[in-house]
Amino acid sequence: MFAVAELGDLRGQTIVVTGATSGLGFAAAAALAGAHATVVITARDAAKGDAALQRLRAKAPSPSDVHCGVLDQRSLESVRQFALWLTAAHPTVHCLMLNAGVFGPDFELIGGCESHFLINHLAPFLLVKLLLPALKASPAVSRIVFVSSDSHRDIKSTPDWTLVAVKEYHGPIGFLQHYGWSKLANAQTSIMLAEKLASEGVTHIYVNAVHPGALISTNADSKIPFAQNWLGHIIARIVKSTRPDADFGCLTQVYLAASKDVVEKGYRGQYFVPTAQLGQVTEIGADKESQQQLWELSEKLVKDFV
Ligand SMILES: NC(=O)c1ccc[n+]([C@@H]2O[C@H](COP(=O)([O-])OP(=O)(O)OC[C@H]3O[C@@H](n4cnc5c(N)ncnc54)[C@H](OP(=O)(O)O)[C@@H]3O)[C@@H](O)[C@H]2O)c1
Repeated sequence: MFAVAELGDLRGQTIVVTGATSGLGFAAAAALAGAHATVVITARDAAKGDAALQRLRAKAPSPSDVHCGVLDQRSLESVRQFALWLTAAHPTVHCLMLNAGVFGPDFELIGGCESHFLINHLAPFLLVKLLLPALKASPAVSRIVFVSSDSHRDIKSTPDWTLVAVKEYHGPIGFLQHYGWSKLANAQTSIMLAEKLASEGVTHIYVNAVHPGALISTNADSKIPFAQNWLGHIIARIVKSTRPDADFGCLTQVYLAASKDVVEKGYRGQYFVPTAQLGQVTEIGADKESQQQLWELSEKLVKDFV
């Protein structure tokens, strides 16, 4: 069982954690800052980001090493602006933890793109694409952590990604279908990126994906449609009190972000499950043709922002 204390002193490591105003992102940022890393969190709302920053600084041994940038993954232009800011403010990044994400509840098309696909997959895909030249050029060992989910197991047939990207699907499992597709996209992108880097001979960037655990108690709960009426709200609160909290739930992504193990054992393109254990993606997740289709589509959809 991995514990944060095993990380040792992370002074000199700059770690970006997207979506760290609450839940797993906040808990991961606090754990990493607690180990003396320089941590850059992101928030889509500057005031909310500032509040999270104050809470983090109150916990961190070196408060001046915790920073915040604005990133709204509903907008690819916001991703581009954030990448520009980050490369100027923090030219050497040692880890990019792609944690920000939504879990329903609504069906929404944003500029013609389905919201889970855009926020949970396409925005991090673009962020990686924009930051990769700097990560490749830097001699520093670096890591990319895709926060995926075992919800990708809900996807029972190989998707046509060109349809998933634009479809409002009101099928039997509702928004969970879109969430599952987006987390499948995270897992597939992680594998594909690791393979692409290996084929280019890039050996100092470690790319992996993580399932943090099932139903960890975070802000995401409050968005479940079931929890919206008073009875659902009470039941959700009771269930929540029985579930692991974010400080525990973030351990596997923290491990991938900073443990020496990852480099020493040469983990690349792997899928980790709690706590810090090697797991496996589904057959669909590992499907090369599906990964290739997703990659080509994603390249096409972000091309105007590169
Ligand atoms: N909790 C679980 O059981 C579980 C299980 C498997 C995987 N995950 C994954 O873990 C990650 C974190 O989720 P969580 O459970 O910690 O949920 P959470 O508490 O709701 O945190 C989500 C974070 O993402 C941010 N975010 C939402 N929409 C965004 C946008 N458009 N642009 C930028 N940031 C945005 C949120 O910011 P705001 O404060 O502005 O909303 C928040 O900081 C997600 O990728 C989720 O899929 C969670």
